Amino acid sequence: MKIYLPMDSAAKALGADELALAITAHAATQGTDLTLIRNGSRGMIWLEPLAEVVIDGVRHGFGPMEPADVPALFGDLSKHPKALGPVDALPWMQRQTRLTFARVGVIDPLDLDDYRAHGGLAGLHRAITMTDAKIVAEVTASGLRGRGGAGFPTGIKWNTVLGAKAPQKYIVCNADEGDSGTFADRMVMEGDPFTLIEGMIIAGLGVGATKGYVYLRSEYPDAIAVMQAAVKIAQNAGVLGANILNSGRTFDMEIRVGAGAYVCGEETSLLNSLEGKRGVVRAKPPLPALEGFLGRPTVVNNVISLATVPVIFERGAQAYADFGLGRSRGTVTLQIAGNVKHGGLFETAFGLTLGEVVDDIAGGTLSGRPVKAVQVGGPLGAYMPRAKFDTPVGYEEFDKQGGLIGHAGFVIHDDSADMLQMARFAMEFCAVESCGKCTPCRIGAVRGVETIDLIAQGDAGAIDLLTDLCATMKDGSLCALGGFTPYPVLSALTHFPDDFAPQQKAAE
Ligand code: NAI
Ligand code: SF4
Repeated sequence: MKIYLPMDSAAKALGADELALAITAHAATQGTDLTLIRNGSRGMIWLEPLAEVVIDGVRHGFGPMEPADVPALFGDLSKHPKALGPVDALPWMQRQTRLTFARVGVIDPLDLDDYRAHGGLAGLHRAITMTDAKIVAEVTASGLRGRGGAGFPTGIKWNTVLGAKAPQKYIVCNADEGDSGTFADRMVMEGDPFTLIEGMIIAGLGVGATKGYVYLRSEYPDAIAVMQAAVKIAQNAGVLGANILNSGRTFDMEIRVGAGAYVCGEETSLLNSLEGKRGVVRAKPPLPALEGFLGRPTVVNNVISLATVPVIFERGAQAYADFGLGRSRGTVTLQIAGNVKHGGLFETAFGLTLGEVVDDIAGGTLSGRPVKAVQVGGPLGAYMPRAKFDTPVGYEEFDKQGGLIGHAGFVIHDDSADMLQMARFAMEFCAVESCGKCTPCRIGAVRGVETIDLIAQGDAGAIDLLTDLCATMKDGSLCALGGFTPYPVLSALTHFPDDFAPQQKAAE
């Protein structure tokens, strides 16, 4: 009997480890010959822990499982109360275009042969036969843009590093996934770590870098453990090191762990932290692409950007670019969270509308109350009201509506949300996480909290003050933390003015 059960930390938080013990113990009492494979999560978090039993070569899902549901797994499976049918046939899976996440939840994350058997390393084998310029051109042609949030074209970034002359260059993977409601980086690292390693090697071959670092947040102990183990396996198998796949080319990498500052997700702050310095933002220019880690040309890319590179080389740039909308090519890994029926990871071509994501894919709120707002793009993202639900998921399309996709986190709130409190939280978050380098952010965020408190106490004049303060923060901050905090604040104020109405607040 073969059972797959996630070791993803979301599944573990919902009891996957206890379930694994119960399954193993029950198999032993039954004398069943059991192979239990701990895989990544398929991304249907409301069904976790999701056990998959292989029946006639097809993986059938059972979830959300509890230890009491285990004995029935060893009986007539068609009568199991948690039976869901073949996992690949579930609507959530059927509707997706899984390119970056093709193997997540499917393979054993630390089995390199399983990785190979599912298309792993095919992209690297192809890249190794190409010149550095051809590799960069392939990424440019794919239309891939930075999935960390800014959406900067990856090919242009790589080209800048390729063109820089230096004795040493670096690839740095930004795995400091700090945005609220985001978890795609973690899921890839826990569920398919070799794809990130492969993407980093291809990046190294493309720009002439021989060393890479993954800067991974300390809050992700499972991802750290999986990535460290995967790097060792890849080194022992000759995938990483002085002679990649017997090509005579060199690329090696290390996992470095951050210490829990949101601002270290900003690339220059991250580089300072990686160098052992305090995580303070550096002024740009110089761009990290020219003077990055230890002053050398450095590609700093998000996990999803790098983990998408192998499939681009496996299938070809055009095959990837064929998906998408406008200048947003390929797929986006939607992370759906908050007050929703169906939260989780959903990979799809750019172009679905916000309303389709919220009402259709997420199934509306868990509370059953009407959706009031969706914060897209992390704590610095705008609150989108229902009036904007026909906005297609695309970088330019969201920008035109005063929003941003960011790292593609969608946090849904029902009509009980108090948007004044949401705006206050944004300012408070900025005040707590500010690196302190520039005044509009360091001081402005503190004043922002105070000003919102004045509004809550009935001071109507404070609304103009808040708007003015937001303009100063937006235009005068050195990085996105101070510069983007006005997005949630002003979107809450603009779209939900009733929540800021002084008389009402004072009465409350
Ligand atoms: P940015 O627009 O300054 O830069 C984007 C990227 O392009 C950077 O890596 C920059 O170095 C690079 N770049 C720009 N011009 C270049 C050139 N000519 N050659 C080579 N590289 C070039 O944006 P920034 O400040 O790096 O990121 C802001 C974004 O980060 C926001 O959109 C926000 O959504 C996102 N963010 C993501 C978080 C997460 O947890 N993933 C957390 C906080 C913010
Ligand atoms: Fe630091 Fe805030 Fe200025 Fe960014 S905006 S550099 S986090 S003080």
